[in-house]
Amino acid sequence: MIFVKISTIVFILFLSFIGFIEAERSYLSPNRKPHWKTDDPNRGPFFGQPEQVHLSYGGDPSKQIITWVTFDDTVDSVVEYGIGKLDLTVRGNASLFVDGGAGKTARLIHRAIITNIEPGRRYFYRVGSEYGWSNIFTFVGLQERLNGGYRFAVYGDMGNINARSLGKIQRLAQDGDFDMILHVGDLAYNLDTSDGTYGDVFMRQIEPAAAYVPYMTVVGNHEYNYNFSHYVNRYTMPDSDHNLFYSFDIGPAHFIGFSTEFYFWTNYGWDQIKNQWNWLIKDLEKASKNRENVPWIVTMGHRPMYCSDFDGDDCTKYESIIRLGLPITHAYGLEKLFYKYGVDLELWAHEHTYERFYPVYNRTVYNGTASDPYRNPPAPVHVVTGNIAFWNPKLKFLQDTTEDSFWLIKDEHKPYDRNDLKQLKKHGYQVPFDYRHPDDTHYNHRSSKL
Ligand SMILES: [Fe+2]
Repeated sequence: MIFVKISTIVFILFLSFIGFIEAERSYLSPNRKPHWKTDDPNRGPFFGQPEQVHLSYGGDPSKQIITWVTFDDTVDSVVEYGIGKLDLTVRGNASLFVDGGAGKTARLIHRAIITNIEPGRRYFYRVGSEYGWSNIFTFVGLQERLNGGYRFAVYGDMGNINARSLGKIQRLAQDGDFDMILHVGDLAYNLDTSDGTYGDVFMRQIEPAAAYVPYMTVVGNHEYNYNFSHYVNRYTMPDSDHNLFYSFDIGPAHFIGFSTEFYFWTNYGWDQIKNQWNWLIKDLEKASKNRENVPWIVTMGHRPMYCSDFDGDDCTKYESIIRLGLPITHAYGLEKLFYKYGVDLELWAHEHTYERFYPVYNRTVYNGTASDPYRNPPAPVHVVTGNIAFWNPKLKFLQDTTEDSFWLIKDEHKPYDRNDLKQLKKHGYQVPFDYRHPDDTHYNHRSSKL
């Protein structure tokens, strides 16, 4: 887990082949008649109690999206909220999500948005309907911290088992130690396991953090079942109906969440790679034009381009698909794209390790003057921040602590240019094609050309 604080400088503690299959939500009509509704006024839903309450950022600090689950149709989706007392009400909508497992478990996913939130004010809220209400939760309207910027808890690969960071995340979220959680893929292990009950347990255990600060998510490989439908349905990212790729601005930073999984789960359709690619270009263009107001660009994807462990994953290969694109054609390679638009920081997970890299591009590692490699670097900085989960990573760099801190300082935010390339070549070290650590038993993976 790392904590990221962004101000004018950044301080870091811490496809079937046939066509396109779209994962989607199934929204219910507000005028629907639930299955239990009869002329008998004593009839109600079987399981109307709300649970798995969590916040997500609504795209600007004045908006919080609230998402929760019931196991039957409660017709109404209500949030009662306010400062000091619950004197305001907002109504949302509901979608029906039927799990792809044998049990075909139905979940009603409720969503509502609180708007006009005043910065720095503490709000209280509860969610539900006349058939059941949640506990009262609280959040503080987002605003820059007194010493500048926002703080983020950033991690991936945390589920129900051996969630070593969970207690800390819950406590710090409730204490206001950070403003937002960024969970960079692999949730619950898996959200869909046992007809989705693993996902329910996970969302209940993340509630003591996620009901207090916005909980922003990225899709990982463990969300792959049923075309990522649990991921699409259980969460609500801003201006997106699927959560698979989206972006938002907060303070001086533009965050982009995207799917590395489209490149690997092509049984759900190749088109998803292209759709996302086109969206990324559009979004990066827009963000580039707005750098005067929002200078930092930060990406979040699950499977990294670079890593130092030996498990044979994509990042251990010279021709990483995420880095260089599809085999042979090299189409849709993300390293060049992010370089072209001057992405400052790239956040990853999946490897169940923590690694902070020197600025790197095209396998050329820049340590600059050695004393200050993160000041105006000529390439993006990558951080892999995965939880241990229940795997023992094949590492040769085990450490007692994974706490890390560094400053990334930039005088200017812009696409990297020729001068940057010159700097990179001059002060960088090109990791050769046949590089091999003596303990790497997956050598063939690392050097194989796909
Ligand atoms: Fe993963």
